Amino acid sequence: MSKKGMATRAVHDGDRSLRYEGAINTPIFQSSTFSFPTDDPRTWEGEVPRGTYIYSRNSNPTVEAVEEKLASLEGAEASLAFSSGMAAISTALLAFVGKGDRVVAMQDLYGGTYGLLRNEMPRLGVDVAFVPTTDPEELCAAIDGRTKVLYLESPTNPLLKLIDIKETCRLAHEKGCRVLIDNTFATPVLQRPLEQGVDVVLHSATKYLNGHSDVIAGFVAGRREDMGLVHQRRRLFGGVLDPLPAYLLARGMRTLDLRVRRHEANARAVAEHLEAHPKVSRCIYPGLRSHPDHELAKRQMDGFGGMVTFEVRGGRHAAEGAIKRLQLIARASSLGGVESLASMPLNTSHTSYSREERVMLGITDGMVRLSVGIEDPEDLCQDLDQALR
Ligand SMILES: Cc1ncc(COP(=O)(O)O)c(C=O)c1O
Repeated sequence: MSKKGMATRAVHDGDRSLRYEGAINTPIFQSSTFSFPTDDPRTWEGEVPRGTYIYSRNSNPTVEAVEEKLASLEGAEASLAFSSGMAAISTALLAFVGKGDRVVAMQDLYGGTYGLLRNEMPRLGVDVAFVPTTDPEELCAAIDGRTKVLYLESPTNPLLKLIDIKETCRLAHEKGCRVLIDNTFATPVLQRPLEQGVDVVLHSATKYLNGHSDVIAGFVAGRREDMGLVHQRRRLFGGVLDPLPAYLLARGMRTLDLRVRRHEANARAVAEHLEAHPKVSRCIYPGLRSHPDHELAKRQMDGFGGMVTFEVRGGRHAAEGAIKRLQLIARASSLGGVESLASMPLNTSHTSYSREERVMLGITDGMVRLSVGIEDPEDLCQDLDQALR
């Protein structure tokens, strides 16, 4: 049978029904420990064969099922689930870099990742160079002999800038550097970075993958050998996902394809509405022809995503007023859930950036970021209209 489609894989892959009494859903193996499968001392070194379990910090059937689902969607040889996106990102970074190494990263990063790279990595003797561009050549020019990781996000938060993933990987690999990308915003439905040359994909599964704003989780996916290195660190740093949220995450992921396509249709409608709105000075959405990376988005992605950023005329005060008046759209950080959320990067995702850094990136005080949910788009536009009036 040819490779199944994304929606089919989201529903079925990772499914253990044949193994577990024919259950359609993978059961929740809420057990921290398992009776010894063997007296072989290697079990304590974490070298148990797949499908053999001794302790859930090492591996667990419910967690493995959701890992297989994500690996299938990303087209990865293997994936590992974590207790948060930040646990996934920090563990992966620590698996690939150590004292004396260097990381080159885009400047335009999720605030938590930026804080980790800027404040914590240098404390461990890892040098980090932030490059304020999405140009592949400029980014890769910063890679030197000590650089072990090039760290990317595309589309970025909140400006939704894109990076040419294929070209960046080509240049980075010429210099022998591993490329890591955070694929949270796009999801594998809209972008599969491994197919474009990326070595390791990272996710905050808290967002679209779970999709219901009720779980904190993360993933790392890539080649089996690399995942072996990450697994070793996950056991030691301990940020593994527990079986109960793994079950919820698998439930959310079964509808990923359906949800992401609806998020996108709604985001397009909202972006077009806001672009024409008299109280909005700028609307940023990769699906709009006015977006500088619109052509790249068409080439590199299978859609434009569910995030829309706009600037309210009148700056910070006007934006804060509008966001407070929203009735249907909740004022909250995070993204990717079925419900629409609005936040101001200034007060949420980018508090760890200085004013100068925000200005350099183009993040203005009157900027509002919308995570467009799967409600009826007319209701969302109406709510925005009354809030902006
Ligand atoms: C793009 C991106 N990456 C990583 C994270 C961190 O994920 P988590 O909150 O699950 O730790 C977030 C959280 O907002 C995010 O937006």
